[in-house]
Amino acid sequence: MPWTRVGEAATARMPEQEAGTGSGRAAAREAPALLQVVDLTTHFHVPDGVVRAAEGVDLEVRSGEVVAVVGESGSGKSVTALSAMRLIAEPPGKIVRGKVLFEGEDLLTKTRTEMQAIRGQRISMIFQNPYAALNPLISIGDQLRETLNRHRDVTRRQARVIIEESLARLGISEPGRVLKSRPYQASGGMNQRVMLALALLGEPELLIADEPTTMLDAMTQMDIFQLMLKIQRETNMSIWLITHDFGVVALMADRVVVMYAGKPVEAADRKTILHDPKHPYTSGLIGSVPAMGSRVKRLSQIPGEPPDLRALPRGCSFAPRCPRAMEVCRAEAPPSLRLADGAAVKCWLYADGAGSG
Ligand SMILES: Nc1ncnc2c1ncn2[C@@H]1O[C@H](COP(=O)(O)OP(=O)(O)O)[C@@H](O)[C@H]1O
Ligand SMILES: [Mg+2]
Repeated sequence: MPWTRVGEAATARMPEQEAGTGSGRAAAREAPALLQVVDLTTHFHVPDGVVRAAEGVDLEVRSGEVVAVVGESGSGKSVTALSAMRLIAEPPGKIVRGKVLFEGEDLLTKTRTEMQAIRGQRISMIFQNPYAALNPLISIGDQLRETLNRHRDVTRRQARVIIEESLARLGISEPGRVLKSRPYQASGGMNQRVMLALALLGEPELLIADEPTTMLDAMTQMDIFQLMLKIQRETNMSIWLITHDFGVVALMADRVVVMYAGKPVEAADRKTILHDPKHPYTSGLIGSVPAMGSRVKRLSQIPGEPPDLRALPRGCSFAPRCPRAMEVCRAEAPPSLRLADGAAVKCWLYADGAGSG
């Protein structure tokens, strides 16, 4: 669905032609879109109904940009990324509609073989649990070599140099010892660095990182994110980062997309999201971040639970939990609006004549 710009015309809604043409800072740092997800919709057919896991998702990652996708657990963040990579198991899953344009080519129309060539080489993905992605019994060195050989034609000696360099880049000071060890002998932090090394061996243009540090302690998490950021800056790689942590957003993101119940409800640059969130859900999420330096988690300011994706409420999915819900919110799906500061929001509060705004 195209975003509609608010406050430009006297009439409420005007179709936006060029998606992603924000104003101010966003326009100044405009780079070509590397990845454009358009109206992506993925359902799971389960015995007791249809899970609308991703519904009409629009999302853009520009060249050299870090885009954070945030939202509570179950909001469709992983399903969206897995759909874009064509890693959804069909059945029970089904990509119902949409486009995933990578440098203008739709990944949803690629063959299995074409996708295999894209994964790892042009788009890499790392997940929450490195132990699940690595083979516990094969040495880390062998797994790195195998992956490198899949991407590039190199001699054994060249492979050794490339792999040692890639580990050094990830702050691994004793590559020799690490290469010989097996994943079960290494720490979670070490394994996640190895995963990152594996993901980067093909020199991808886009890294999709799905809550990559959730299993690690806070210090190790920060180390890994700092490394990702350093490498991103050195290589101008783009990152699609999935997280539920606004501390990570503040550190990493250029732009942020907030998802709720399978849909993006707000998108803006980091500063705008953090200082001037528009959607009541975004405000609630930011309000529920533990205060800096405090060891006590502040209570979530969002009451209630996310809806059952098999039986979404009429109107706005967030209305039942929204402190600012109006009558229209329970009756009709909210419009997609683009505001004067470049933020995009799906919320009735910002529709002309609907509320105070
Ligand atoms: N294989 C599956 N079968 C049925 N439902 C699924 C499957 N995978 C994901 N889902 C559902 O899709 C919704 C979105 O999940 P997900 O994208 O993993 O959320 P998150 O935002 O936490 O990453 C959830 O309700 C989840 O239960
Ligand atoms: Mg997930």
